[in-house]
Amino acid sequence: MVKVVAGNWKMHHGPDAAGRFFSRFRPEEEDGSVRLVFFPPDLSLGAAIASARVPADFGVQNIHWEPAGARTGETSAEMAREAGATLALIGHSERRHIFGETDAEVDRKVGAAARAGLVPIVCVGELLEERRAGRLEEVLRRQVGAFAGSLAGVAEFMVAYEPVWAIGTGETATPDDAAEAHGIVRNALGALGRAPVLYGGSVKPGNAGALVSAPDVDGVLVGGASLDPDVFARIAEACGSAGS
Ligand code: PGA
Repeated sequence: MVKVVAGNWKMHHGPDAAGRFFSRFRPEEEDGSVRLVFFPPDLSLGAAIASARVPADFGVQNIHWEPAGARTGETSAEMAREAGATLALIGHSERRHIFGETDAEVDRKVGAAARAGLVPIVCVGELLEERRAGRLEEVLRRQVGAFAGSLAGVAEFMVAYEPVWAIGTGETATPDDAAEAHGIVRNALGALGRAPVLYGGSVKPGNAGALVSAPDVDGVLVGGASLDPDVFARIAEACGSAGS
């Protein structure tokens, strides 16, 4: 399977910076050995798409579940699609833990993305205290169980396993930790089939190759290290070499 290398820019890189990123982003492997995906902020999506010089897919970092309406500050899946997005991140840990997004809301967003023809990348992951309490499997099964029903019949989707304690902290799960969690996610997806399961949480050029070589790890979702075009290119190259 071609490894997915996704960059989540979070609230970084406005339209000008998005253009500058792509004028410098030159991964050595442009031979299709990885699938590149970018999640710019909504306001930079058009500039990013217009300035990308490598084959890549683009998505939004969040959507609302309604197609339109009185929802000040929100973006619908339909609008994201019209603006050029083909994927949507859903349930990122910052959405869950800073903005209080619930499993039920994640599920509604997954349904909305699928209806609008966006590929959902649904994020799951445990808190440090949940891991320490031996609740990894229970938490992942609950999170996946909340949205699995909305994915029945959906042609393409992905899941990103992002342990909350590893996001933006410099702490990374070991390849063994990732393989264990990805195995649980895959089991919980059950009959939904073999969708890519990405790892996220302090991925860097130095650990990306080992992570994507672990069983059941089909790619990476990168935050901080996706902001620098040279660093992100090195991650893509590491994943391309590991996958070939
Ligand atoms: P990080 O973020 O790579 O900065 O840890 C990952 C993510 O939040 O998707």
